Amino acid sequence: MGNQPKRILVTGGLGFIGSHTVVELQNDGYEVVIIDDLSNSKIEVLDGITAITNNKPEYHQIDLKNKQAVADFFANQKIDGVIHFAASKAVGESVEQPLKYYENNIATLVYVLQEMVKNKVNHFIFSSSCTVYGQADVLPITESAPTKPAESPYGNTKQIGEEIIAETTKVEELNAIALRYFNPIGAHESTEIGELPIGVPQNLIPFVTQTAAGIRETLSVFGDDYPTPDGTAVRDYIHVVDLAKAHIAALKRLLDKINVQKMEYFNVGTGKGSSVLDVIKAFEKSTGEKLNYKIVGRREGDITSAYANTTKANQVLGWKSALTLEDGLESAWKWQCKVKSQ
Ligand code: WQD
Repeated sequence: MGNQPKRILVTGGLGFIGSHTVVELQNDGYEVVIIDDLSNSKIEVLDGITAITNNKPEYHQIDLKNKQAVADFFANQKIDGVIHFAASKAVGESVEQPLKYYENNIATLVYVLQEMVKNKVNHFIFSSSCTVYGQADVLPITESAPTKPAESPYGNTKQIGEEIIAETTKVEELNAIALRYFNPIGAHESTEIGELPIGVPQNLIPFVTQTAAGIRETLSVFGDDYPTPDGTAVRDYIHVVDLAKAHIAALKRLLDKINVQKMEYFNVGTGKGSSVLDVIKAFEKSTGEKLNYKIVGRREGDITSAYANTTKANQVLGWKSALTLEDGLESAWKWQCKVKSQ
């Protein structure tokens, strides 16, 4: 039995980060089972994954808000570990619809954890976010930086989610790792999968690529009066393939039982900060496309600057980002051109 491939449940596995993580899991010899309710993804992503790995993952369209459906799933499966992406993630929308976010991001987490405990599935990776730090006082940001009151219900669901998991690991067999993502960008080099924002993109890079593709008229730069070198806000843009690989490293740490705490936290970023204007310049340089943009007022709730101290992820998790901002922007542009042509 020992050499049976481990079976990993990936909730939200047809989403942007989820699908890239499924590819890396399959590349690493894991068996993958996806649960996705298609509320913010498309079934065609399953074909994209299969086109890359030639190995169609098992897929179940389950709404994790349906407690009975979650129980039935776990009762009929042998799962060795769970990577939990399924959640709503639009910061602005969460301000307008807090109850949707608390139900979809918290109730579903509780149902998945309850069934894991009941079925003795003891390894859990949680999709968290650097948003838990708010505007950190010290940059680059380490995992010991204090969390700050969330600026949005979305951010609050990540903080509450971490606390729910931590408290559960104290009294159950469960071992968990929270990966605090910085800003995921880019797409798989095959252009078979990538970011599929439905509606007007909230995040910078999809708006950049849609502007360059002529889908959007102009990119609005939200503020150039921040206390940063060029006045625009700074973020740590990490290639989604590097981010996916961080999940494999975290999963291996739990399956090999070498985690030193029952709940561990890792910042997953490149360690490099880039301003909005840096991104625009890098995009134009790496793609040869001219970007139409204008400076407008700040966006409510935005912080000035966030980029990761990656020492813990490098030294403890044994993971380091390999791809650059330009790699991310080039792959995002290649993906945009592919999607637009469909
Ligand atoms: C990046 C920078 C904007 C759009 C959020 C969540 C985080 C994660 C990623 C969900 C900021 C500027 C953006 C635009 C702009 N979760 N911007 N014009 O806000 O850093 O992080 O999304 O995916 O948890 O907090 O990402 O891409 O929205 O913004 O000038 O049209 O680009 O002001 O400085 P953010 P973002």
